[in-house]
Amino acid sequence: MKPKLVISTGAGMSAESGIATFRDAGGLWDQYPVMDVASADGFARNPALVHQFYNKRRHELVAARPNKGHLGLVDLERDYDVYIITQNVDNLHERAGSSHVLHLHGELMKVRALDNPDLIYELTPDNLDTTPDTTIDGHRVRPHIVFFQEAVPNIEPAIELVEQADIFVVIGTSLNVYPAAGLLQYVRPGVPVYYIDPRPAPVPPRVHLIRTGAGEGVGQLKNLLSESRGQQNI
Ligand code: OAD
Repeated sequence: MKPKLVISTGAGMSAESGIATFRDAGGLWDQYPVMDVASADGFARNPALVHQFYNKRRHELVAARPNKGHLGLVDLERDYDVYIITQNVDNLHERAGSSHVLHLHGELMKVRALDNPDLIYELTPDNLDTTPDTTIDGHRVRPHIVFFQEAVPNIEPAIELVEQADIFVVIGTSLNVYPAAGLLQYVRPGVPVYYIDPRPAPVPPRVHLIRTGAGEGVGQLKNLLSESRGQQNI
């Protein structure tokens, strides 16, 4: 059986695809008031602004491509059972070819009915824009995004994955937003933990830091993992 490699990714994973992060200088939260465009209250106050914000993100996403980091995580599936837990709402892990991707904060290319959260619709690249008046099958829709002030329904399956991890990797997140930032605490004792980020947040000493961008960092991770597999075989 292959070892279970669980990887938690944030906005830095997609930075090299040209998608802005949130909290780096010049990031999205420097340009937009977060509570206006990404909170439940903001959506109630001005839904048109929120739709506009996510329309713009969708247009950027369809023009972007998976980067070397996303592709490197797909390669790891040869030797590991790879499970990705992502805070990202883009679909670059899926487009790169990763088999198991769990989205904690929703998905940009999906909308859901306002009157029935179980009715989820996938948008297509030729039909990206929504407004408060957009209807699908007779339902008005909202972005399928977890806004601030809302629950994170996928955190339970994410915790289960982390508890089962044989190796845990964090990539490109400032570890500012909970509950995602708390996943690290569910890693079993003795399980190796790696964190790829050019400016990592403070983490416990057990975490092996790889202080570089995602593309280069996933390459280094592969080498470190194959070295430690080699040592175990001796
Ligand atoms: P942040 O913008 O808070 O953090 C981005 C992280 O990526 C930082 O630690 C950077 O150092 C790192 N970074 C920058 N360039 C990188 C590169 N080329 N390779 C690797 N890492 C790089 O983004 P998140 O931590 O993902 O939620 O933010 C978490 C949540 O906050 C988001 O999912 C979003 C936001 O508000 C919602 O909108 C619900």
